[in-house]
Amino acid sequence: MTDPSALTAEAIAAIGKARTATELERVEVEYLGRKSGRVSKLLEGIGALNPEERAALGKAVNEAKRTIEEALSARRSQLEASRLADLAETEAIDVTFPGPPLERGHIHVLTQVRRQIETILESLGYQVELGPEVETEWFNFEALNITAGHPAREMWDSFYFSPELLLRAHTSPVQIHAMLRIKEPPIYIITPGRCYRRDAPEATRLPYFSQVEGLAVDRGLTFGDLKGTLLYMIQSLYGRERRVRVRPSFFPFTEPSFEFDVSCGICGGMGCKSCRHKGWLEVGGCGMVHPQVLRNGGIDPTQWNGYAWGFGIERMAMLKHDVDDMRLFYESDLRFLEQF
Ligand code: DAH
Repeated sequence: MTDPSALTAEAIAAIGKARTATELERVEVEYLGRKSGRVSKLLEGIGALNPEERAALGKAVNEAKRTIEEALSARRSQLEASRLADLAETEAIDVTFPGPPLERGHIHVLTQVRRQIETILESLGYQVELGPEVETEWFNFEALNITAGHPAREMWDSFYFSPELLLRAHTSPVQIHAMLRIKEPPIYIITPGRCYRRDAPEATRLPYFSQVEGLAVDRGLTFGDLKGTLLYMIQSLYGRERRVRVRPSFFPFTEPSFEFDVSCGICGGMGCKSCRHKGWLEVGGCGMVHPQVLRNGGIDPTQWNGYAWGFGIERMAMLKHDVDDMRLFYESDLRFLEQF
């Protein structure tokens, strides 16, 4: 029969020789394995012993187990420490080195401006109304009093899917959708959204852009109501020092019609490179809704009248942030976008 302390010494030597965690595990199984471990085997002949010898052997075996377990655990910590030390050396990882900061995205400048416009007009009681980007020829032109063959159609050179179906060239068709849907005036809506035209990208125009249309239908509205509303919107967006002006123009869906200008924020209206020395920047058109347009929207023009406007959101954003090239908004260049 093996002597427990001799076996313990043997185990401790084996533990000292183990070079890896796996080798150490093998030693553990060999000595402390539940059934066939060598320490358990020390107890094999115990039944034949007298009570005193039995107690002595039991005690010695327990002692051996404890000593071996302690040695195993000490060696395990040692091996782990040297494994980490080796790793630090070979992989040269500085675990205290701070990670790269996570970059936070933010709302695109055009969306910011669109939301600001929405908030300002909502405070006046307007509701946001959306319409389809793929339109029928009737909504995009005909219902807006831009009849087939009318030379004014050239103002909206459009992308057609078929003779009847096209990408909307402006947000004005949403005026018709809204009147047909709401039916009973008063109607006060704004309609932000994307528009498409066959234009080559330039600093001040794009084939893909966005507008925000406004439409009011009520009794006895005047051009003063329209101008006051737009002045309020412009000054809320850009500051009280901004001035506005209208110039007579032509749109088939309004009578009278106007172009709407805002004083240049860079020169304060004195004239500079940015406003091409005019002191004013054009943001879009407006006017009193043509009676035929009301009729096309199912509204009786003898009872109701209206005003409307359609402004380019990119132009409004350019005016707000003194950007002089519209294409920058769509180029996804973070150096540009991160400024807003
Ligand atoms: N739809 C016109 C355009 O895209 C802009 C416009 C002008 C809209 C006058 C209006 C308006 O509602 O009254 O050029």
